[in-house]
Amino acid sequence: MKFYIATDHAGISIKADVIGMLKSRGFDVEDLGTNSSKRVDYTDFAHKLCQKVLKDKTSQGILICGTGIGMSLAANKHRGIRAALCHDSYTASMAKAHNDANVLCFGERVVGLGVVESIIDAWCNTSFEGGRHALRVEKIEI
Ligand code: RB5
Repeated sequence: MKFYIATDHAGISIKADVIGMLKSRGFDVEDLGTNSSKRVDYTDFAHKLCQKVLKDKTSQGILICGTGIGMSLAANKHRGIRAALCHDSYTASMAKAHNDANVLCFGERVVGLGVVESIIDAWCNTSFEGGRHALRVEKIEI
């Protein structure tokens, strides 16, 4: 399974660690930028990543900005993207189990590396439960 990852300037410091976490768990990772601390618009990176995830239905995305809020707002404008802003392992596992989320968002200014690793673990080790949740997920698109 492949992960696409993208950040703005406020999410760049943690990105190499996150890529390392994913690769050490055996995932293929493609970095879509940004690649410097120069200010950029999180929207551009959210849209770029969502287009990739929508093309490759088996892939998932990770978007990091200062808070994770802007990335999640922009990502959720794409039909077929279910972006979840997660602050801990509980929200990450529920985003997969109940919401079938395909893009994980978090804020570099909000969570530290230890929490990020627990988020990644929960995200990677949890599957969609389907059942009653499947109809609700279908009803997200209007
Ligand atoms: C950049 O300063 C910051 O606004 C951005 O990274 C993000 O937190 C927006 O939601």
